[in-house]
Amino acid sequence: MRISFKINGKKVAVDVAPEARLLDVIRDNLGLTGTKEGCSKGECGACSVIVDGEIVDSCIFPVSQAEGCDIITIEGMSKGGKLHPIQKAFIEEGAVQCGFCTPGMVLAAKALLDKKPHPSDEDIKEALSGNLCRCTGYTKIKNAVKKAAKKR
Ligand code: FES
Ligand code: FES
Repeated sequence: MRISFKINGKKVAVDVAPEARLLDVIRDNLGLTGTKEGCSKGECGACSVIVDGEIVDSCIFPVSQAEGCDIITIEGMSKGGKLHPIQKAFIEEGAVQCGFCTPGMVLAAKALLDKKPHPSDEDIKEALSGNLCRCTGYTKIKNAVKKAAKKR
């Protein structure tokens, strides 16, 4: 089937198997490999992308549901070679170690801050609850989200 959607502001049309996962289409058809695959079961958030303003696990999201959607991946965060303020905050707060969870974390933070520019600690905890990190212990990630919120 042919499916069309917008990704990082650009309209695309791809020929895909109806049962294809959005994750594979993003990585393999579109070459956007910043989106990572961890558990493949919708549990770790490494594959998180934003679809129409909502954070989704692209490993369990059938691409057939993406028709006409507006999708943002980590590649869509920086503009003109400049990092997004959320990405900068992650670096400044030391919230990136191996980096495997980072694209998903950054996008989960964006989805939150776009809806709630001044989130509470509880809001941040809830928004990041679907994203697992094996390295940082989460405190630095939460601090980075708070810092990004303040900068905005
Ligand atoms: S790879 Fe998709 S949630 Fe873990
Ligand atoms: S920085 Fe390594 S998994 Fe989060």
